[in-house]
Amino acid sequence: MSTPAELLSAAQIAARVDELATEIIKDHVPFQAAPKEDAAPLLLVSILRGAFVFTADLIRALKTQGLDAEVDFLGLSSYGDATTSSGRVRLTRDLDTDVKSREVLIIEDILDSGRTLNFVKTLLVSRGAKSVQTCALLDKPSRRKVAVEAEFVGFSVPDAFVVGYGMDVAGLGRGLPYIGTMPEDDSD
Ligand code: IMP
Ligand code: MG
Repeated sequence: MSTPAELLSAAQIAARVDELATEIIKDHVPFQAAPKEDAAPLLLVSILRGAFVFTADLIRALKTQGLDAEVDFLGLSSYGDATTSSGRVRLTRDLDTDVKSREVLIIEDILDSGRTLNFVKTLLVSRGAKSVQTCALLDKPSRRKVAVEAEFVGFSVPDAFVVGYGMDVAGLGRGLPYIGTMPEDDSD
């Protein structure tokens, strides 16, 4: 894999993750510093594999700011090894947690065509979640094929294939601490 050109630095990402945690806490009054005794904790549903790094940082930012969230993981795949969507969403790992009557926040690395998020929202609502919101680190609005939006967005980005901070190109690059764009000849 050739070296990606930096789009968002590690410091920019860290600062935005802290801001997102603040926005989420403001929006979830029952989960603020003094939560109601009987309120079930907010459940983060992290979409594997791309969102695992973002989720790890966000859950710590939330805890640091006073919100102790639960987390579970949903494995989904819409890309094979290619950088263009197959258009199909496949469930590769299900949740262990029963979402019935729970307040759920989907954690996604990047909102692209919207097919993955649409699939997850429909699934969680059909399982009886009390509320379903989404926090996407990146949004590529120009690529949308399905009308779906995230309540919390880290950065809106142009239509370029990105890698790093959990996101991969053909399985590699997830460990890059920053988010970069791939040179043209690597991204087809
Ligand atoms: P959607 O279903 O088209 O919205 O695609 C969402 C998923 O595609 C994301 O969760 C990512 O895993 C993947 N994806 C979309 N764009 C990129 C990209 O630029 N780099 C890496 N993965 C991407
Ligand atoms: Mg993903």
